[in-house]
Amino acid sequence: MTIDLSTTYLGLELKNPFVPSSSPLSKQLDTARALEDHGAAAIVMYSLFEEEIEAEEGVAQRLQNQDIGHGEAASYLPVHDDLPGHREKYLEQLRRLKEVLEIPVIASLNGVSPGGWVRHAKALEQAGADALELNVYYVAANIEEDGAAVERRVIETLTQLRKQVRLPLSVKLSPQFSAIGNLVRQIEAAGADGVALFNRFYQPDIDTDDLELDQTLHLSTSADSLLAMRWIAILHGRVGLSLAATGGVHTAEDAIKLLLCGADVTYLCSSLLSAGPGRLDEIHAGVLAWLDEHEYESVAQLKGSLSQKNSPDPGAYERGNYIRLLSSYRVPQSLWR
Ligand SMILES: Cc1cc2nc3c(=O)[nH]c(=O)nc-3n(C[C@H](O)[C@H](O)[C@H](O)COP(=O)(O)O)c2cc1C
Repeated sequence: MTIDLSTTYLGLELKNPFVPSSSPLSKQLDTARALEDHGAAAIVMYSLFEEEIEAEEGVAQRLQNQDIGHGEAASYLPVHDDLPGHREKYLEQLRRLKEVLEIPVIASLNGVSPGGWVRHAKALEQAGADALELNVYYVAANIEEDGAAVERRVIETLTQLRKQVRLPLSVKLSPQFSAIGNLVRQIEAAGADGVALFNRFYQPDIDTDDLELDQTLHLSTSADSLLAMRWIAILHGRVGLSLAATGGVHTAEDAIKLLLCGADVTYLCSSLLSAGPGRLDEIHAGVLAWLDEHEYESVAQLKGSLSQKNSPDPGAYERGNYIRLLSSYRVPQSLWR
């Protein structure tokens, strides 16, 4: 029996649900090509950050305004317009990825200002992106600002983008919103085609020897996938947009669980960074073997069969088992005697 792994994400027909998510792996053409050769169904590019473009424009402006007082020497100053800027480099990389890859290329943007989101999104559209992921990575550290204001900004940005950009749009959210389900619903109503749940917040640590902040980036483990599992399960069948699961997909089993919950695609990042492109082959083969063993004919048949709506124990995705779980924990007595 041939098993059909195909899936649809953001309106794109994909050959399987395994998609390398936004990471430095899309910065090199050969690593991107290796991902395609190992079966990636699409690729999400690293993000274009508006604040980096702004910082660069600020430097250019200062250089242009600078009068060093020696007419001739001033001409030795770098002419910034001739240098490929941050945004140009990104657009060039997008064009090159589109040239060398056959799989869809999803651009990723992290904007700051409403005008910036729209301006850069249009440039990404013109450069040939197949879709655009909005990386709304934001730490609500301003304690004067309430949660509703943060949500409103996401929705307003999206509404503006939807008016001006025809590309399929997805929103990559952090898990730190108070009512994720309702926010996703608002995101759908504002015209998004999908959401990616969830971006990881990188947490600063403290080095107790040097009394300094330690900014090491730690990769995920499979345990991290449980966060997306719950929310994908709750949302499947209740919203119409595509659902990407991101965070902690390291094995075929992780991917199967997320598909059972209702993910349309499973994103891979830490697993590929730590294990290389061969991890895609392992996950692909593992998912096929599991589907075969459990007599599924397709990913479509599997998708969402254990979502909250379809689960024999829907309460497990909510608070249902909370008290039972806590009280069923057995303290190892041997440690306390
Ligand atoms: C080194 C590194 C770079 C990343 N860069 C981006 C980025 O530019 N934009 C983005 O939206 N996510 C970025 N991510 C987040 C990943 O795409 C992914 O959502 C997150 O790491 C959780 O998935 P994982 O457990 O498979 O790593 C990055 C992650 C890592 C580890």
